[in-house]
Amino acid sequence: MHENIAEILIAEGRIGERVGELGKQISSDYQGKPLLLLGILKGAIVFYSDLMRQINIPVYVDFMAISSYGNSRESSGIVRINKDIDQNIAGKHVLIVEDIMDSGLTMFKLKRLLSARDPASLKCVSLLDKPERRVCEINPDYLGFSIPDKFVVGYGLDYAQQYRNLPYIGVLKPEVYAMM
Ligand code: IMP
Ligand code: MG
Repeated sequence: MHENIAEILIAEGRIGERVGELGKQISSDYQGKPLLLLGILKGAIVFYSDLMRQINIPVYVDFMAISSYGNSRESSGIVRINKDIDQNIAGKHVLIVEDIMDSGLTMFKLKRLLSARDPASLKCVSLLDKPERRVCEINPDYLGFSIPDKFVVGYGLDYAQQYRNLPYIGVLKPEVYAMM
């Protein structure tokens, strides 16, 4: 285990199993509907690449990079698009792939922004969710794991751009960010 990790919250094997289940569910729900998987950079990259290989219907891939200002552990709710999607989503079935839903502000604003572009449907899958932290009325349409209010890293999730390459979801030792 990494020296800055206090505990492994979700082990690699459990993530793999759950991602497999999500892939099956999504494949059956979107049968006959051309699906655009819209990954949110950078946190969702690992989840995205595992999930797309568990989906057995045709998919289109695309990405958006967004940042929400605030300190590095909290979302400000101001969503800025750093990179927009390359294609017109009008008439398409869009599934947003996110790493974690925390306050919910990022997803709330993103969904509002994308729905104005007239997709045939717009849903989201989030690997993780911290329901205790929610400040607006939104929930993931598909969810990997509901977790307690702890700051986690790994499997794509970062703290100050580090730890994304850990193969598990781990709780960061509070002393690592205590200086911020
Ligand atoms: P929200 O707008 O508060 O829902 O924030 C969602 C974003 O905050 C996520 O996409 C992550 O980038 C970041 N975030 C929230 N909680 C964590 C965490 O525990 N670890 C790493 N990033 C997090
Ligand atoms: Mg994110």
